[in-house]
Amino acid sequence: SGSLAEHAAAHGKYFGDAVDNNEITDTAYRPHIAAEFSQLTPGNAMKWDSTEPNPGQFTYSRGDEIVALAQQNGQTVRGHTLVWHNQTPGWVQNLDATALRAALQNHIQNVVTHYRGDLYAWDVVNEPLNEDGTFRNSFWYQKLGPSYIADAFRAARAADPDVKLYINDYNTDGLGAKSDGMYRLVQDLLTQGVPIDGVGFQAHLAIQYGFPNQMRQNLQRFAALGLDVAVTELDVRMQLPADSTKLATQATYYRNVTNACLAVARCVGITTWGYTDKYSWVPSTFPGEGAALLVDENFQRKPAYTAVHDALAGG
Ligand code: G3I
Repeated sequence: SGSLAEHAAAHGKYFGDAVDNNEITDTAYRPHIAAEFSQLTPGNAMKWDSTEPNPGQFTYSRGDEIVALAQQNGQTVRGHTLVWHNQTPGWVQNLDATALRAALQNHIQNVVTHYRGDLYAWDVVNEPLNEDGTFRNSFWYQKLGPSYIADAFRAARAADPDVKLYINDYNTDGLGAKSDGMYRLVQDLLTQGVPIDGVGFQAHLAIQYGFPNQMRQNLQRFAALGLDVAVTELDVRMQLPADSTKLATQATYYRNVTNACLAVARCVGITTWGYTDKYSWVPSTFPGEGAALLVDENFQRKPAYTAVHDALAGG
């Protein structure tokens, strides 16, 4: 007994869920969101295409709904995300360098100011790296070079002195070329005096690709730079159909991620990218894969739920 959030809190950590607006109206799901989690991340509602679909036209209704639910439930919110290469309107992508730099400043100033006081953290820059640890050749990088990253953090800090500012990426969970690239980038930002508080490790895992190499050691080396670390988008997909062997492997992955965070004092919490397999980004992105979350489509707990629960409970 005891919720995931309660057991995480005993370690001084949160346990969070990513939710979308269409999900939080599901009356079967809402009680689980309230009962199991101490933190929410909007899965889509705070992305640029939601918050500034047209130049200078800011729309916060979807993000505000999720903040309101979190406040009602006594949960913190991680804002996701200010600067990304996906879900950013065409009008932004078509700007020249000078106008793009101005749009970045204006977007961050407006959105961060709107949510000032409501959020625990922002994912300021999302997914800036290639698999080999070099900079992703996004429209941001092509037009502005790496300076867009430092600029984004400075603009966010100028708009809110208190919210935690994170950089966030996937496939950086274990030691390897991509996490080495993140480590160099973060060291460089710190050397430049850029205001950064934390590094987010998405942890979109798949049982067929193996568990990340030495995740605890990887989180620890970032923490040793004086930063918070967080597991921000955890899920563990598999090739369908699920069977008891795959579900047991999945449970082991979830347990290992949980234990990695518990072993690192500056790992502030874990967010799963959804709770129920009813709502998961996986099947539409990776056809034939899924069953990635803690409970099934009918909210029945899977072995993964028990593994996370027992790891948090010290079992
Ligand atoms: O809003 C439109 C709707 O108007 C339209 O009718 C419908 C038709 O497909 O699409 C809707 O947009 C979808 C959007 O989610 C909102 O539901 C997009 O097609 C769909 O591609 C989009 O997927 C999101 C994905 O990011 C896109 O980049 C997922 O929900 C979201 O979970 C996922 O989250 C990302 C994190 O932000 C960053 N890390 C990876 C993670 C998983 O991809």
